[in-house]
Amino acid sequence: MSMTVEEAGVERPGFPKPFPNTPSNVLEQFQMKGKVTVVNGAADGIGLAVAYAMAEAGGNVALWYNSNHAAITRAEEIAKEFGVKTKAYQVAVENADAVEKTMDEVVNDFGKIDVFVANAGMAISKPILEQTLPEYDKQMSVNVNGVVYCAKFAGHHFKRQGFGNLIITSSMSARIVNVPIDQPIYNGTKAFISHFGKSLAHEWKDFARVNIVSPGFFDTKMGAGEKVINEAYRMTPLGRQGHTKEIKGLYLYLASDASTYMTGSDVLIDGGYCLP
Ligand SMILES: NC(=O)c1ccc[n+]([C@@H]2O[C@H](COP(=O)([O-])OP(=O)(O)OC[C@H]3O[C@@H](n4cnc5c(N)ncnc54)[C@H](OP(=O)(O)O)[C@@H]3O)[C@@H](O)[C@H]2O)c1
Repeated sequence: MSMTVEEAGVERPGFPKPFPNTPSNVLEQFQMKGKVTVVNGAADGIGLAVAYAMAEAGGNVALWYNSNHAAITRAEEIAKEFGVKTKAYQVAVENADAVEKTMDEVVNDFGKIDVFVANAGMAISKPILEQTLPEYDKQMSVNVNGVVYCAKFAGHHFKRQGFGNLIITSSMSARIVNVPIDQPIYNGTKAFISHFGKSLAHEWKDFARVNIVSPGFFDTKMGAGEKVINEAYRMTPLGRQGHTKEIKGLYLYLASDASTYMTGSDVLIDGGYCLP
């Protein structure tokens, strides 16, 4: 119900909140020195690019992986190359106990969590009439439950710390129906986490920011497969998939003090795919 102009004009205690005590120099705002970022799905693809982005900006990184043990070597390489602290952790995001335990381990090892990037995901792209119920359950458990568990257990630390920053990797498939292969369950899981992220941005407004990244086609294992690649090129105004180096800046922006006035945003990065 709307207020009258007189009612709306009443001063409310605690407002306006103060501006953040952050550098005015934009390159300094992007610095991650002293900050701790956790990235899941970090062994390869977008997650690995994000881990590099944080380290290149001077930040410490916890790399979570599921089955790809290359994360261990990548963590060692990143630490050596950029002189930051890193560690790899194996955790299946659909296992709530494992997520909670690993979150606590990271806090023990690194002292805090400044940023959590909930990036792990998977797809079994089929029409619903061909999709088995176990395939449905699997996608829900990783893409939905996994994000919910990571957000919940990171969120407890954010609240206790009094600061935090959650970035969720969703997809353009949260807002468009991808063609030519129907994949309603994958699309639905991504729509859930986009709206979940926006809802958390409101719930956590006093201690943490939450934003969503919605990629179009990127050249990774989950990028456009053989059957859709030509249609992906045709439908994307830039005429190609994205390279993972082209998404690093967006995650760094959202993770860093360059984006302190941004929360609840869902940023599309799709080479223009969703334009027409
Ligand atoms: N590439 C694209 O075109 C595109 C477009 C839109 C959205 N996305 C999203 O971007 C995110 C990253 O995907 P990507 O493109 O970088 O492909 P990717 O290299 O295959 O990354 C997916 C990651 O998710 C992890 N993962 C899968 N199941 C898991 C589980 N049960 N527990 C923990 N981690 C699990 C994998 O870990 P392991 O390898 O260690 O098992 C893998 O590192 C996904 O959420 C995806 O939906 C990608």
